[in-house]
Amino acid sequence: MVLESIFRIIKVQLPAYLRKLPLPESIGGFAQLTVSEWLRLLPLLGILTLVGYMSIRPFLPKRKKQRDSLINLKIQKECPKVINEIDIEDLKIGEFCYCRCWRSKTWPVCDKSHIKHNELTGDNVGPIIVRKRSLSVQYDVSVQ
Ligand code: FES
Repeated sequence: MVLESIFRIIKVQLPAYLRKLPLPESIGGFAQLTVSEWLRLLPLLGILTLVGYMSIRPFLPKRKKQRDSLINLKIQKECPKVINEIDIEDLKIGEFCYCRCWRSKTWPVCDKSHIKHNELTGDNVGPIIVRKRSLSVQYDVSVQ
């Protein structure tokens, strides 16, 4: 039954369809086709377009992996989530810069790699600066 249907399509219906197609003898003849003639050509043109696309598809450039969408490109990639804990009590008095651009080679401390990253990409990332003052400094500031 299935083979009979395929046989009928290939041997009878397809040749009959192709014979009835209003194919012009020159390229300029396409401009003179009526709308109904174009509509009769549409299935064939669609199939030819699909076959053409499928045959050139292996040679088309592959989509680039969206590596740019990754924030962390290299730091502790073996971990499912990179978490750094810094105890505020361990900080000495002064300023500490922690990286937020994920490009630092001294992670989690900023090594100014963000400057090069910003120049290359037009980004505007920078470190988070944590300041710890001594109590006496804070007291002096409030007294003045
Ligand atoms: Fe990343 Fe400075 S190196 S913020």
